[in-house]
Amino acid sequence: MTAKPLQIGLAGLGTVGTGVYETLCRNHELLEARVQMSFEVKRVAVRDLGRPRDVAIDPALLTDDWRTLVEDPDIDIIIELIGGVTDAYELITAALRAHKPVVTGNKALLAERGGELFRLSAETEAPLYFEASCGGGIPIIQSLTASLICNNVERIAGIINGTSNYILSAMERKGVSYEEALSAARRKGYAEADPSLDVNGRDAAHKALILAMLAYGTPVDPRAIAVYGIERVTPVDFQFAHRLGYTIKLLVVIKHHEGSGKLELRVQPSFVPKEHLLANVNGVFNAIAVRGDIVGETIFYGRGAGKNPTASAVIGDVMLAMRDCRHPEHHSGFHPYTQAPELMPAEETVTPYYVRFLVQDRPGVIAAIAAELAKKGIGISAITSTPHGEEEQADSNDLVLLLHACAWGKLKQALREIGNYDSIDRHPVVFRIENFNES
Ligand code: HSE
Repeated sequence: MTAKPLQIGLAGLGTVGTGVYETLCRNHELLEARVQMSFEVKRVAVRDLGRPRDVAIDPALLTDDWRTLVEDPDIDIIIELIGGVTDAYELITAALRAHKPVVTGNKALLAERGGELFRLSAETEAPLYFEASCGGGIPIIQSLTASLICNNVERIAGIINGTSNYILSAMERKGVSYEEALSAARRKGYAEADPSLDVNGRDAAHKALILAMLAYGTPVDPRAIAVYGIERVTPVDFQFAHRLGYTIKLLVVIKHHEGSGKLELRVQPSFVPKEHLLANVNGVFNAIAVRGDIVGETIFYGRGAGKNPTASAVIGDVMLAMRDCRHPEHHSGFHPYTQAPELMPAEETVTPYYVRFLVQDRPGVIAAIAAELAKKGIGISAITSTPHGEEEQADSNDLVLLLHACAWGKLKQALREIGNYDSIDRHPVVFRIENFNES
C-alpha cells in the first residue's frame, strides 16, 4: 500500500458523479486492496452548493469552482463529469496542462475535439481515460485498446444508445407510441438532458467516432459520417419487419475496406435478422460486436446507460490512472498512432435495403418501380404489401420491396426517378438490412 493516499478531485455530482462518489465510498477497501494503493476523494466541484443532494457528503469537500481542483497541487487525478463541451473542455485542458491525469465520460467532447485533447495529452504526458464514454458499463474501451490489441479490426457493429434501444424495444414489445416510450426513457434517467441527441442518432455517432478512433488509431472527422435517427420508425415498419424475419435496431456500423483503404462509418435504424444476437438486445442494454482478424467475432453486452453502470466504467479508469501514477512515463492512456483514414461517402456504401412506398392501387405501379430499379442494376429479392386493414386509405397500399445489395447512391437515384410517378409517394421509408454475412 502507498503511504500517502492518492488524492482525487471529482468535478460533477449529477447522476453519474453521485454513483461514482457512492461507489468509491462503499467499495473503498475492496478497491484499495485490488490496486494495492490508497486513495481519497479530496474535493468535489458542483455547480450549485445550495442544491439538496441525495448522497451523504461532507459539505467541506464541496466547492463551486472546478479550478480549485486543477490548481490544488495535492490533487493527483481529476474526474470530469460536468458534461457539455464548453466548461468540460476548459477543465480537461487545464488539468492536462497541470500534468494531472483525467478520467472523463464526455463522448460529445471526445468525438468533436478528441484530436486536440489527445495532442495535448501527448505533449503534457498526462493521460486521458474515457471508458465511460461508450457503452456505459461495458468495458469496450479497455477491450479494444488492451485485450484485443493484436487484432486488425475488420468490423464493429453495435447498439450503443440505450435510450433509442429502450424506445424501439418498447414500441416493438408493448406496442406503445414513440412519444410514450420516449417519456418513459426520460423518467428512468436514460435520455440525455436534450433527448434529441439520443433519438436523432448523434449520441450513437459520438460513441461510434470514439470506437473508430480506437480501432483505427486516430480521431476521425465527425462531419463526414452519415447519421439517421429513429424518429421516423413506425409500428407499420415493425409489422413488416416481423413478417420478413427481422427487427429494427439503431445500428452503428464501422468497417474498414481493405482494397480501397476507406473507412465506412454510419449510424441508422436498420433491419437486423431476428435470430442474430443484436436483434435480441432490448431495453437500455447495449451490445457491440467486434470482429478482429485474429480473434474472430466477439460480442460485448451490458447496460449502456444509468448511474451505476457508468460509475463502474469511471471507477475502472480511476484505478487504471492510479496504477499509471506509479509509472507516468509508461501510462496506458490512448496514443494516436496513424493518419486519419479516408471516409467512404455514404453513396458508395453497399447493403441490401427495405423500401416501403405508399402507392395508389393502379395497374403498372409495381412494373414502374421494378423498371426504374432495373435501370440502375438493382434487383428485388421480395415484395409484400399492406399487413393491416387500411380502410381509411382504401385506394392506397404500403408496398414493401426487399432489394439485393446495392450502393446507396444508385438507390437514391432510382428513388428520385420513382418519385416522379404520380401514383407513388415521393418519400418512401428506407432501411438498410444488415445480415452480418459479409466475408
Ligand atoms: N443517453 C445515453 C444513452 C446515455 O441513452 O445511451 C449513455 O451514454
